[in-house]
Amino acid sequence: MELVTVSDYEQMSKNVCQQIVDKVNILKTPVLGLATGGTPELLYERLIDEYKSKNVSFANTFTFNLDEYVGLSGDHPNSYRHYMNEKLLKHVDISIHQTHIPNGMAENLEEECANYEALIEKAGGIDIQILGLGMNGHIGFNEPGTSFHSKTHVVTLDSSTRQANARFFPNAAEVPHKAITMGINTILSSKKIILMVSGEKKASALNRLLNGEVSPEFPASVLLEHPNVTVVADHSALSLL
Ligand code: F6R
Repeated sequence: MELVTVSDYEQMSKNVCQQIVDKVNILKTPVLGLATGGTPELLYERLIDEYKSKNVSFANTFTFNLDEYVGLSGDHPNSYRHYMNEKLLKHVDISIHQTHIPNGMAENLEEECANYEALIEKAGGIDIQILGLGMNGHIGFNEPGTSFHSKTHVVTLDSSTRQANARFFPNAAEVPHKAITMGINTILSSKKIILMVSGEKKASALNRLLNGEVSPEFPASVLLEHPNVTVVADHSALSLL
């Protein structure tokens, strides 16, 4: 695991943006694994800037998001489909048909999960997977205790995760209880993984990741077993090290 230390959120976003632009420019049909939440917001703004400056085109790129809430349709303001469309996808030259996010409204959720896995495989696997770090160590919505062998599946969100995500909803009660997430094995099958960590509130989780043991009780620790992981972390996130 490589650790890249940057000064702040701005520099983290810039660093990861450049890594993505370089990869997209090299590959014929790049496949990006994307995350939502607060962490990658500025990264997406930077990617739009790079596109507008004609430094990159996403015309041949395919994207797969980590997760989606169960019960929210794509046009719901708190769905991850809506987040991705607004924060990145509609601002760059990617066809919506090349972008994938689990359908949280699917009638048969198990089937949706299996189809999602098949789509990733058909695309040739993920070239770069972007991850944020949950305060309880979750990656995607794989909460503590999730099997390292898991594929895309339906999860019940931890109350701490629902609390952490309540800031995006009108009130805490509206945060869905369930989500579809890529499994840990799905994430680990990516060719390269970039974990973005910023801010003091992530310091304890990052400290545990960098100094702790590999255990399903702290899902992000599985990244220590992947051959190509870069953690890009800012000074505040590293303040407990
Ligand atoms: C988002 C996701 C989550 C977040 C994590 C950190 O698609 O899968 O694992 O990356 O909860 O969230 P933020 O960035 O809001 O601190």
